[in-house]
Amino acid sequence: MLLRLFQGLGIAIIAIVFEGLLFLYLNSSDASSLAQFGSGGAPAPHTAMPHPRPAAAVRVPVPAGLETPEAVQAGAHLFRENCVSCHGAPGIAPAAQGMNPAPPNLLLAGRRNDPAEVFPKVKNGIPGTAMPAWSDQLPDQNIWSLAAFLHHSRGIQADAFEALSTTEADASPEGH
Ligand code: HEC
Repeated sequence: MLLRLFQGLGIAIIAIVFEGLLFLYLNSSDASSLAQFGSGGAPAPHTAMPHPRPAAAVRVPVPAGLETPEAVQAGAHLFRENCVSCHGAPGIAPAAQGMNPAPPNLLLAGRRNDPAEVFPKVKNGIPGTAMPAWSDQLPDQNIWSLAAFLHHSRGIQADAFEALSTTEADASPEGH
């Protein structure tokens, strides 16, 4: 009888811990997609704080050999399609204005753009800012291509960006 009780209690505790972890996991992506909708309206109460971002950046393991020419080019195309409207690019002014914080110019030569940090920021968005989560629109492979491009092509010039982001990908394998 008492044994049953303890067994039941053990299972209940495991279930609660598991639910807690699941909640944290799901919440991390939910919160960022909500930030998309919050960006247009009145500022949320917590934006009154000067630095709503957590101090330590989230980092994820980076796949080996990330920055292939194909990934960089795919990333340039994806960036042109999805990101330039807010972030701009060399030779292209951002169309969207008035965001606070403002979207940084991600292609300046002095940027770090560490793929380990760029990937989670793009996938999950940046809560409390206009930076949306892309996990619903872009598969992880595309987000890695964006991370490859943003790291590899820092400091790219306007004409080079134009060429890289508009030319069709070469279908023939390398060396042929
Ligand atoms: C609706 C506007 C908007 C769009 C579209 C957008 N971003 Fe952003 N992004 C922002 C804003 C605003 C910030 C600044 C957030 C901050 O200061 O924390 C940001 C920040 C970032 C950062 C972090 C920069 C840093 O210094 O840490 C990265 C990386 C990034 N965006 C990548 C992208 C990529 C890649 C895309 C396209 C797939 C994209 N963004 C599309 C608005 C946007």
